[in-house]
Amino acid sequence: MEKTFLMIKPDGVQRSLVGEITSRFEKKGFKLAAAKLMVIPNELAEKHYGEHKERPFFGELVEFITSGPVFAMVWEGEDVIATARLMMGATNPKDAAPGTIRGEYGVIVGKNIIHGSDSPESAEREIGLFFDENEIVNYQKDQ
Ligand code: CMP
Repeated sequence: MEKTFLMIKPDGVQRSLVGEITSRFEKKGFKLAAAKLMVIPNELAEKHYGEHKERPFFGELVEFITSGPVFAMVWEGEDVIATARLMMGATNPKDAAPGTIRGEYGVIVGKNIIHGSDSPESAEREIGLFFDENEIVNYQKDQ
């Protein structure tokens, strides 16, 4: 079954949105396979956002994502990668549809509440960066 990496960013944790956001994915019918609250070390942040290294906002991005705890998760389910991104809404909260996570709770692009893998390749890479294999829990759950 498909897996994705989702991460509630420091702004989402600060604003007490962990329960609200995880609840949306649970109610949708996806299966939580791993989760942890953590402060991301600089080196991990730079690896995670490696594809944005040349962007002018890279420094800001790394500084923000390491500024406080994040809630890192692995979710599992049919088409979970694309569906989670639909549920998150557009990257820039100004463009995110009402009802989506960013549409409901965000205002600025640098503080857009949640990160989600954008492809099977990035999901595999990001899950591997944040979780050891023995942290991914395998159990039965009906959809
Ligand atoms: P995310 O999905 O985590 O992936 C890359 C992040 O870069 C993105 O969410 C935004 O939070 C951030 N980002 C994109 N554009 C900008 C920008 N112009 N300024 C600051 N951060 C940005």
